[in-house]
Amino acid sequence: MKRNIEQVQTLLEALPYIKTYTNKTFVIKYGGSAQINPKLQEKFAQDIVLMYLVGIKIVIVHGGGNKISAMLDRLQLKSEFIDGLRVTDEKSMEVVEMVLSGSINKEISSLLNAHGVKALGISGKDAMLLKAKAMDNGKYGLVGDITAIDNSVVKNLIAEKFIPVIAPIASGESVGHPGYNINADLAASKIAASIGAEKIIFMTDTPGVLDNEKNLFDTLREEEIQKLKEEGVIFGGMIPKVDACLEAIDGGVKKAHIIDGRVEHALILEVFTSSGVGTVIKK
Ligand SMILES: Nc1ncnc2c1ncn2[C@@H]1O[C@H](COP(=O)(O)OP(=O)(O)OP(=O)(O)O)[C@@H](O)[C@H]1O
Ligand SMILES: [Mg+2]
Repeated sequence: MKRNIEQVQTLLEALPYIKTYTNKTFVIKYGGSAQINPKLQEKFAQDIVLMYLVGIKIVIVHGGGNKISAMLDRLQLKSEFIDGLRVTDEKSMEVVEMVLSGSINKEISSLLNAHGVKALGISGKDAMLLKAKAMDNGKYGLVGDITAIDNSVVKNLIAEKFIPVIAPIASGESVGHPGYNINADLAASKIAASIGAEKIIFMTDTPGVLDNEKNLFDTLREEEIQKLKEEGVIFGGMIPKVDACLEAIDGGVKKAHIIDGRVEHALILEVFTSSGVGTVIKK
């Protein structure tokens, strides 16, 4: 009996959040580092389905850093990171696209479809979604900066009750161009701002943004972030992530969260409970 009451209580606690978020759009960045094992992927799918069924419009942008590195290793292609970005030559670009758009994208859409929602996997190359140019005059090879975004495909899919699952690859300027490798965090923030998302949530492999003693920052603002970057407290893959949070917020997204994708049901905890998990970045 006590257990029944607790269950009811838990559901009631979620009510205000459901009321606030129904009909709003959330962009979820599903980090390569959070796609660790089938058990966690299963929990992720359950969380997405629950959010979808209470009327939240979901867009998923995924990364795939680990799997790209593993495939490059298998093919004996070397990869180097500068400022948390993978320097991408033409041969690596082919692998990046195969892994992101071919393998991971379909894995995620199949997973969600198996749970009874309609997920549809696309890449930024589809329907003119993302166009890019070389970042910093080609300092990182085929790593791209997004120059144009046509979000009509995303809007149409949402309107038709699909969950778009987006691989962060962009078209180049000319026909036959191999395309650009876009950091998934930055692709997610651009898309979130362009569709007027309420929230963007980055699922990764740390509890959030940590200080030098591994303590979690539960809230961060722009000035603090700049300082932490200068001091080297924020480094590597966390650099594009905090930049993406700031870009999303500047673009009108209300809140950006960095949460631990290794924790079971991290999404539900963040969205439907008062505890919240991870770091929230506010204007
Ligand atoms: N201050 C910090 N707090 C927490 N993590 C940090 C910090 N500075 C750097 N990092 C690094 O950032 C990493 C997360 O970024 P990373 O790019 O590796 O993952 P991801 O973006 O989730 O995955 P993918 O790039 O494949 O989509 C952490 O594993 C950690 O090593
Ligand atoms: Mg990353």
